[in-house]
Amino acid sequence: MKHMTRKATRHVNQNEGLIFEKSSAGKGAWKLPPLDVPEVDTKKLLGSSERKDLGNMPEVSEIEIIRHFTRLSTWNYAIDLGMYPLGSCTMKYNPRVNEHVARVEGLADGHPYQPEKVSQGALRILQTLSECLIDITGMDAITLQPAAGAHGEMTGLLMVRAYHQSKGNARKKILIPDALESQMNEDVAALMLTNPNTLGVFEQQIHKIADILHAKGGLLYMDGANMNALVGKVRPGDFGVDVMHLNLHKTFSTPHGGGGPGSGPVAIKKSLEPFLPTPVVIAKPDGTLGFEYNRPKSVGRVRAFYGNFGMFVRALAYIMANGPDGLRQTTEDAVLNANYMRKGLEATYDLPYSTPTMHEVVFSDKLQAKKGVRTMDIAKRLIDYGFHPYTTAFPLIVPGAMMIEPTESESKEEMDLFIEAMTSIAEEVQEDPQLVLDAPHSTRVSRLDETAAARKPVLRWKPGN
Ligand SMILES: Cc1ncc(COP(=O)(O)O)c(C=O)c1O
Repeated sequence: MKHMTRKATRHVNQNEGLIFEKSSAGKGAWKLPPLDVPEVDTKKLLGSSERKDLGNMPEVSEIEIIRHFTRLSTWNYAIDLGMYPLGSCTMKYNPRVNEHVARVEGLADGHPYQPEKVSQGALRILQTLSECLIDITGMDAITLQPAAGAHGEMTGLLMVRAYHQSKGNARKKILIPDALESQMNEDVAALMLTNPNTLGVFEQQIHKIADILHAKGGLLYMDGANMNALVGKVRPGDFGVDVMHLNLHKTFSTPHGGGGPGSGPVAIKKSLEPFLPTPVVIAKPDGTLGFEYNRPKSVGRVRAFYGNFGMFVRALAYIMANGPDGLRQTTEDAVLNANYMRKGLEATYDLPYSTPTMHEVVFSDKLQAKKGVRTMDIAKRLIDYGFHPYTTAFPLIVPGAMMIEPTESESKEEMDLFIEAMTSIAEEVQEDPQLVLDAPHSTRVSRLDETAAARKPVLRWKPGN
């Protein structure tokens, strides 16, 4: 292909059928030694629960299993292979040290029902991570329970509701940033805003917004999912925020892909502390740590046990490995990288907002749309160049949005390859738009019907399918 750049190479992408298609009766991946204990009558032991017919299971050898799944894994894109320019999703590299610490036996094998007295180390991790996050955000208290950013938002709003109810006030209205002054009144429980927002723009008026809300008894909820642009620089607690969530799976480098476990802690000001979900980690009079369950004003549990503990270990490892200076440097690098992308691409792609860029930058497909090529087509063509696509068509306020977030993980070299690829695709749009419209060309399957895949998924293999 004429425009291919340095990044893309031919990659051996082996054909691979279904594991059922490799199956033949009698093959197996295991062999047990002869029985040297008395045989048990399973019928007696299990009664009607015994199941002899396992249905149609694939019968394959060990090497066939290994090769099957290894080959499938080569069809995947991964952060270990290259950049994920996905804006808003913050797909940064998850350092190996996190994984190492999370696999330490006492942590990995800990059980939530284990008594407090043998869980002091785990409790210390919860407490230390809480203290670090409180320090980073400038808030007064935190719950680590929520399992995602969206779950954090719900938990935060439950606390806001409980707060107003405790004042004998059943406020129900939640505002979003547009038209604040005209809408603000004593019915408004809170305003929710994302800062920096999904255009990567910092809300400069945040102090003023907090003052307007507070003057009428409302609270300011900040979606802190984009804290990777602020850590070590400014603290939401210092600019008037009352409640906010963090996405550990974005800002604090815990795994994010493949629907892996997320974590969306909610940090709050003192006034909301009585409403924290239970249980809360406390220091007991004897100096040990433990859980406090008896908190009459609590909104109750929002998650089984204490949250995604493995994520807390990873986030704390990341915070401690970086230290305050390292975290500040990370923020600066993330913002620098997004601005590098902006500079590298603004001559080629339309930049609808020229406000200063923080951690991510949003272009639009306006120039390419004249040739009938839209953001999704360009994103698909990026795959042929060896990159994961950027975020398409979001945020909605930008028609044909192309949202790019390199994160601090990327080197100048990798970003140059990305800019080269995007520039090359823009040339292709002018010279041969059909090439881009039909992309990707290098994958095992080309353009999929994404609507059908979402609405009519075929999740089970059946013989003869
Ligand atoms: C700005 C913002 N807020 C909230 C969320 C929701 O987080 P989660 O996907 O963990 O529910 C996201 C997700 O990426 C986000 O980008």
